[in-house]
Amino acid sequence: MKETAAKVKAAFKEKFNEEPHLYYSPGRINLIGEHVDYNDGFVLPGAIDKGIFFAMALNNSDKINCYSIDFDEHISLPLSAIQKMESWKNYVLGVVNEFQKLELPDEGFNCVFGGNIPIGGGMSSSAALEGGISFGLNELCNFKMSRKELALLGQRAEHNFPAVKCGIMDQYANMMGKEETVLLLDCKNVSHEDIPLHINGHEIILINTKVHHSLAGSEYNQRRKECEKGLAILKRELKINSFRDVHDVIEMLPYKNEMGEKVFNRCSFVVEEILRTKKAAELLKANDISGFGELMFQTHDGLKDLYEVSCKELDFLVNIACENKEVIGARLMGGGFGGCTINIVKEESATSFVEKILKAYKDEFNIEAENYKVKVVNGTGKLFFEE
Ligand code: GLA
Repeated sequence: MKETAAKVKAAFKEKFNEEPHLYYSPGRINLIGEHVDYNDGFVLPGAIDKGIFFAMALNNSDKINCYSIDFDEHISLPLSAIQKMESWKNYVLGVVNEFQKLELPDEGFNCVFGGNIPIGGGMSSSAALEGGISFGLNELCNFKMSRKELALLGQRAEHNFPAVKCGIMDQYANMMGKEETVLLLDCKNVSHEDIPLHINGHEIILINTKVHHSLAGSEYNQRRKECEKGLAILKRELKINSFRDVHDVIEMLPYKNEMGEKVFNRCSFVVEEILRTKKAAELLKANDISGFGELMFQTHDGLKDLYEVSCKELDFLVNIACENKEVIGARLMGGGFGGCTINIVKEESATSFVEKILKAYKDEFNIEAENYKVKVVNGTGKLFFEE
């Protein structure tokens, strides 16, 4: 961690010839509660020790100068010329664009960033990028916005520039994350309860398929539309306000024809996943890790069969995990169509499990998967360190 921060700081000093302010903005895991954040559900994410370091300073001009070490690309443009651009630039400019909409005083800034969060790995590198820029600007310009406001601003940035109609989970976990704690986030009320992550004797291991099927963005928005269609019917017929008011999939059966099979399946998953996440949070509080893991496997099945956001690489990894007694729970994590699986594994078997699964994956797909043991850490914040 320290080396990456030092590298970012050194690159900034070389480019801009001054001392920067330093920030760390983490990626996230999500234990359970997938694809329900934009469906008024509950999710259980935490910030992790994989993320992005930022070196930033205001530059007393009307220009943004921003350099990505990992992409070896930079942008340099006047604040008045903010517009959509490709890849990482969209996230940086998207955030500035949202600040501008609030009519906060515009100030130019210099920034260098770089990190260790795998792009497209489902750990939300995009929210980490949005979070670092928004937190840094909020502090440097003294905008006095709260962490929650910054999370919501990041979400709007993602809706408006990259045009992914994401929920609030990633940006919220990025801002509100707390060491060794997961957040039971109520996505309807945008508030959370801290749940201490007591999983003594277990590791959280992510296995990165190293594939990222390009449908991810368009299919994501499509799922959202399908859920909206189903919910409109349920609201009318069942007089409910949101999916969380349905307590059993059976209640939806009379409307299956009108919904159509696909929409019915999507809605069934959402209803079940909301109930499952609430139950999982109770199990975690009661230290019932095995019961919790069982629910993770169920979530994967739902994401595969009903929500259809899995792929053969993810299913393969979860099947192998399922065959291993030392794995307590496993499932695809994040948006799907590639990226990582999240596995809760007994500590003493973690190394042998990783070896086994990487080998099996290589034999099947001829791809070297990556693995990360992750720790749950605090959300975005200022870094202070001595060289
Ligand atoms: C992406 C989105 C989140 C959430 C997950 C799926 O990470 O950014 O808002 O919807 O997918 O749970």
